[in-house]
Amino acid sequence: MIAPIERTLTGLRAQTAVWRKAGETIGVVPTMGALHQGHLSLARAARAACDRVIVTIFVNPKQFNNPDDLENYPRTEEEDARKLESIGVDLIYVPSGDEMYPSGFATTVHVDGLTDMLCGATRPGHFDGVATIVPKLFLQTSADQAFFGEKDYQQLQVVRRLARDLDIPIDVIGCPTIREEDGLAMSSRNLLLSDRSRIKAPVLAEVMNDMAERLKSGATMTAIQDEARTRILAAGFNEIDYLELRDGSDLSLLDAAKPDARLFAAAWLAGVRLIDNIAVE
Ligand code: PAF
Repeated sequence: MIAPIERTLTGLRAQTAVWRKAGETIGVVPTMGALHQGHLSLARAARAACDRVIVTIFVNPKQFNNPDDLENYPRTEEEDARKLESIGVDLIYVPSGDEMYPSGFATTVHVDGLTDMLCGATRPGHFDGVATIVPKLFLQTSADQAFFGEKDYQQLQVVRRLARDLDIPIDVIGCPTIREEDGLAMSSRNLLLSDRSRIKAPVLAEVMNDMAERLKSGATMTAIQDEARTRILAAGFNEIDYLELRDGSDLSLLDAAKPDARLFAAAWLAGVRLIDNIAVE
């Protein structure tokens, strides 16, 4: 059965109050829609861990620094609801812009440090948008657990930090990146790739995996990154925003592998920005 869709905060709260009264736990999977297997894996993890599961769909304008990017972001609500059918989600929360940002809305949440680098450096305001909407979704759903993909690893660390700093009583659970058969990390943005770009896209993960192997054998980023960048650009990518090795907790920059090191990349392919990260331990 397709899960009921709730568009108002009042309706959402009425439903969660019933669940709370019955002593049931609630899991939330925040999304911007255009659901793929990565999102579905989060919904399945929530289904396995919690009595009730809410998937939220809201294309958050505050986290887009480029109006065209916001305009082009895929919106596929009916299809999304159908995809969630087999998982047995209890509620899909699809608030309007006015519901989330009513007239006079004046608050921005900013997480220091973790948001200065990687996507934070190239997408000004993006993480303020994420850090503002996510606690709202946590508080609106009153969830006990929230499920996020490691694909957006920096976002996951930012969300963990803000939940701790703001004392929001929620467990933030990171779930592994789900990949296409050719290694491309699943992302709603993959829908924007042309057929030609889709063939080139897996090169990013391929190069990162090769780098990870060399880093594990003792190579440094200084020694290997020029060649890696050349391979990515030669495959047809237009620009690399970053290709960096960082600590998986505080995201500080590294030159050599160590426990909890991760390789992070963002690169443009014919107008589509792809990001990926892999553990290098
Ligand atoms: O990862 C996303 O889809 C979004 O950044 C999120 C967490 C739903 C907040 O808008």
